[in-house]
Amino acid sequence: MPRYLMLRTPSANRVYAGEAGPLSAAELQITVPMAQGVEDVEIGGVGYLAFESADSGGTLLEFVARQSACFALFEEEGELLRPVRLPQAYVLDDDLVTIPKYQGKTNEQFTQLLLGVTLAAVTREPTGPRQVLDPLAGRGTTLSTALMLGHDAYGVEGDDKSFEQLASFYKTYLRRKRLKHTADVRPVRRDGRSVGKRFDAEIHTLGPTLHVTAFTGDTRQSADLFGRKKFDAIVTDAPYGVAHGAVTDVRGTSGRRDRSPAGLLREAIPVWAGQLMHGGALGLSWNTLGLARENLASMLTDSGLTVCTDGPWERFAHRVDSSIHRDLMVAVRP
Ligand SMILES: C[S@@+](CC[C@H](N)C(=O)[O-])C[C@H]1O[C@@H](n2cnc3c(N)ncnc32)[C@H](O)[C@@H]1O
Repeated sequence: MPRYLMLRTPSANRVYAGEAGPLSAAELQITVPMAQGVEDVEIGGVGYLAFESADSGGTLLEFVARQSACFALFEEEGELLRPVRLPQAYVLDDDLVTIPKYQGKTNEQFTQLLLGVTLAAVTREPTGPRQVLDPLAGRGTTLSTALMLGHDAYGVEGDDKSFEQLASFYKTYLRRKRLKHTADVRPVRRDGRSVGKRFDAEIHTLGPTLHVTAFTGDTRQSADLFGRKKFDAIVTDAPYGVAHGAVTDVRGTSGRRDRSPAGLLREAIPVWAGQLMHGGALGLSWNTLGLARENLASMLTDSGLTVCTDGPWERFAHRVDSSIHRDLMVAVRP
């Protein structure tokens, strides 16, 4: 069986504080179903992620090209490595994701990993671009990553300033890139009064026509904002609950400020679960210093979701800094 060696991007170890090996191995095991014998190897002092696959065709390469840490792929031929040309996985340039830089941005490589493993858990056959929601959207790293990979992107964000920056970035970016598009911000009205704003864009790529919609508002109102619309995947990086001065990035649980995201997640997860299509998946990353894995798993199962457990699903925990230890969990709506 042919053996392949994936070279990781040089930045991967900076992102995961030296733990890129296990994380990218777990990602590959989940998202490349035809890969076997996944292991870390060292050749000539350089680390690679090695795997075997009986399938050497386009499907394998398409899966590999979407790995968040993939830099290049080689096929082993005796003592030599033969470069393998990977297909273009992106329908929009990756600078859509890399240009914005701001405090609180979720790392773009990690976002691609979280999106990839969540979509791998979706059991529903696609009928067009996947419908991906980030109900804690910030300035849109998940939205942009989803668009770049050819999916429609939806978001809710409680911080008005982040929403304004997200909308103005998309408008400028789409104009500068000369992509055929429409994009505008409009007020959201209920009973004749303005209750927030929404941003809508339609983007014509060389492939699919993509859609983005983002609302200002509390994530626990996400189902009211989107009405009957349901999603293939909900992918979100939860607030970390780390204090910046007197406040944290958690926006009120039942009207109060809360340092821990646990209260917010307890109230939001049932709402998000109801927004998933049957066979859709919810992928969540969170700070384990504020919420234990088993407690988050109970919140998901209490909302009728089935948590992906065992093997590679348990190998994503990593340190971000002294106050943030991040992990991810994916659960499917049966
Ligand atoms: C970890 S950040 C996500 C950052 C985002 N992935 C990005 O890269 O821009 C969590 C986000 O949740 C938002 N948030 C916190 N509580 C919220 C709530 N109750 N409703 C809506 N958004 C909320 C915060 O304002 C913050 O932007």
